[in-house]
Amino acid sequence: MNVAKDVKSLYLRQLKKRAMNFQLTEEHKMIQKAARDFAQNVCKPGVIERDDKMEVATEQISELGKLGFLGMMVDPKYGGGGMDTTSYVLAMEEISKIDNSVSVCMSVNNSLVCWGIETFGTEEQKQQYLVPLAKGEMVGAFCLSEPEAGSDATMQRTSAEDKGDHYLLNGTKNWITNGKQAGVYLVMAQTNAEAGHRGINAFIVEAGTTGVTTGGKEQKLGIRSSDTCSVMFQDVKVPKANRIGEEGFGFKFAMKTLSGGRIGIAAQALGIASGAYELALAYSKERKAFGKEIMHHQAIQFKLADMAMEIEAARLLCLKSAFDKDQQLDYGQSSAMAKLFCSEVAMKTTVEAVQIHGGYGYVKEYHVERLMRDAKITQIYEGTSEVQRIVIARGILK
Ligand code: CAA
Repeated sequence: MNVAKDVKSLYLRQLKKRAMNFQLTEEHKMIQKAARDFAQNVCKPGVIERDDKMEVATEQISELGKLGFLGMMVDPKYGGGGMDTTSYVLAMEEISKIDNSVSVCMSVNNSLVCWGIETFGTEEQKQQYLVPLAKGEMVGAFCLSEPEAGSDATMQRTSAEDKGDHYLLNGTKNWITNGKQAGVYLVMAQTNAEAGHRGINAFIVEAGTTGVTTGGKEQKLGIRSSDTCSVMFQDVKVPKANRIGEEGFGFKFAMKTLSGGRIGIAAQALGIASGAYELALAYSKERKAFGKEIMHHQAIQFKLADMAMEIEAARLLCLKSAFDKDQQLDYGQSSAMAKLFCSEVAMKTTVEAVQIHGGYGYVKEYHVERLMRDAKITQIYEGTSEVQRIVIARGILK
């Protein structure tokens, strides 16, 4: 027996087991391919026209639900796919290469609405609301933003007055994704203004309840066919059983939920960037100028090199945050970093993709101008880039 040799071989085996692994599993690759096929075959046809007419992709979203993409991470016992966050990131990236009005609906439903109810809801709430949400039979909306409470989310004016067996909800929510098509709304409202953010509660409100109305379609720069509007609550009776968590948990509920939501938006931004890069690369192989394909000009090569490098870094941050969440590590910091970085890369990459396309990049037919318009919102919703910097800085100082 050679002790030194045995110890060395044991050490090497353990090292191999513990080694970091950047490879996707076969299951991950299958999910990625399914999402890519769905994006190409179901979302791509008509994407320019829907964007133009601000037409919600109702059929595509319904198909998305049937395939299980609206409740990917939910436990199968509640009708979900039981997948990990990495699978979700991969699927979000593929769909976001093509149609971000569809992928934002998917992101809000998966990581805000389903996750929020599954993690903090009661068994009754899960049976009643999570099951149809996870099965894609309906979509949900997350109602935090108000006309005067965007980044400063503690300044909730929507009130929920305790009336014994129910709350009476009054107020207006702004910029609500899935606003008109939602079957349920997760609504943050103030029950005790004196208690500040500790007086905020989160409620599940069914669409169609008396007193719930929606405003007109917002005319947006990008994600134009996503369903965005204001939602108004006037003397809406919400049963006590529909409050999520303990009294006063609403602000923390919103913050915890948004930490995961930011992984979804990071993946969306990553998809926008990689979609624009793929288009720019393909175009540069076809388009000729000064006697050769433009990819043979160093001016274009340097742009493509920077795009590829930044997208790779964005992907690693995004997957690292997904890994943190799946390993039940703290992911508030990594999701803020992923969302901030991926959205900046999306903006920069899409601008360069339009530039590589020249005049063709400026017209709708070539898709990159739409991706450039879509990129902007990823720096704004689910916390602006400035809010992500607040979250990151507070984490550093803690
Ligand atoms: N998890 C748990 N608790 C958290 C938390 C987190 N991630 N972040 C904050 N908290 C807690 C704090 O510990 C604190 O609790 P205590 O006072 O009991 O200790 C409380 O919440 C208040 O926190 P802060 O003092 O940090 O609050 P703040 O007023 O300074 O605001 C902020 C912090 C990060 C700026 C926050 O307001 C924020 O994230 N704003 C942006 C809101 C946002 O992202 N909106 C997006 C709308 S949803 C959307 O866009 C969806 C869509 O449709 C696409």
